[in-house]
Amino acid sequence: MTAHIPIFEKFIQDLRAAWAELPDMEARMKRGQKLLENLVQNPTLREVSKSWPSTEGRKNLLFYEDPDHGFAINGVVRVPGRKGSIHDHAHSWTAYGLLDGTETLERYRRLDDGSKKGYARLELESVTQGVPGKVDLIPPFDAHAEQGGPTRSVAVILRSERVSGKVLQGSYDLANNTVRSIDGPTNIPYEITS
Ligand SMILES: [Fe+2]
Repeated sequence: MTAHIPIFEKFIQDLRAAWAELPDMEARMKRGQKLLENLVQNPTLREVSKSWPSTEGRKNLLFYEDPDHGFAINGVVRVPGRKGSIHDHAHSWTAYGLLDGTETLERYRRLDDGSKKGYARLELESVTQGVPGKVDLIPPFDAHAEQGGPTRSVAVILRSERVSGKVLQGSYDLANNTVRSIDGPTNIPYEITS
């Protein structure tokens, strides 16, 4: 295995320390959000990310999955103007950190109680402009969509666990008030080296 670049290796070690110290997943992910903020402000990593391959076609780069604690670190490289669909990440927590380019993050509020299978009524709750260094924390089952900006954009994602290939996540149709279960993006193992 090739050595990670130092800032990424430190990120992993700080996350491992947080997971060992804090028993609660929300507390771990709030610490993780802070650590990710620091990571995605790093100009060296931003430079390194210029060569990361596009994840077009519902893919994620898989940088790291912790063998002891199960948290996963993914990357997404969007083409300019990429249209994102509304989805959740099932029971996992997600910290979504923008490293390069700009994106728009839409968050949705669920209006029904989820008791009717296949039915979901959502309303747009907020739209925020993502800029490099900004990290959004997305709680379990929160519906959201990431929209690409005018240029290529790159995000680093910390997940409380890998979802893809393990559990199905929700995919929402706003106009028709429906939700269906789909598999997450395909994980492509990728080493962050300089
Ligand atoms: Fe997402």
